[in-house]
Amino acid sequence: MKKIKILFVCLGNICRSPLAHAVMQDLVEKNDWEDMIEIESCGTGDWHVGQLPDQRMVEEAKKHGVNMTHRALSFDEFYAEYYDLILPMDQSNKEFLISNTPSKYRDKIKLFRTFDPLSKEKDAEVPDPYFGGAEGFRRVYDIVERTCQHLLKTIINK
Ligand code: 4NP
Repeated sequence: MKKIKILFVCLGNICRSPLAHAVMQDLVEKNDWEDMIEIESCGTGDWHVGQLPDQRMVEEAKKHGVNMTHRALSFDEFYAEYYDLILPMDQSNKEFLISNTPSKYRDKIKLFRTFDPLSKEKDAEVPDPYFGGAEGFRRVYDIVERTCQHLLKTIINK
């Protein structure tokens, strides 16, 4: 199998996309698939570049045995060429990516929850937890975990 390179994208790259990055990395390492799958994450905004993830997301991930150590990055047009699959967490992240990606690479962009096995809507989003309480971070964790598991299955079965 050709190595597949995946980029997770949210707004700040301190909550949702670094969680998807960490959960996916954990699954890849547990299965010894590092040679087949490369993972990165970034934000559409640059306010948090260089920072560690939001402590509330870090705490929720830790409860499930997942460590988050990513330092925030912001989207660079070069990523559109380099990554094979670009997965925005919500519609506004997706619209930003479409506007900032040459048209020949736009097919690489798909809403992350396209891979959510429980999602009934075509355009389901991972809700932004940043301005809410702990329940929002728990919800994000559940969505991200099951979606990463299904995404990995989809990739490996191809
Ligand atoms: P994320 O969450 O996009 O999941 O990393 C946010 C982080 C920061 C902000 C908004 C959302 N912010 O407004 O600074």
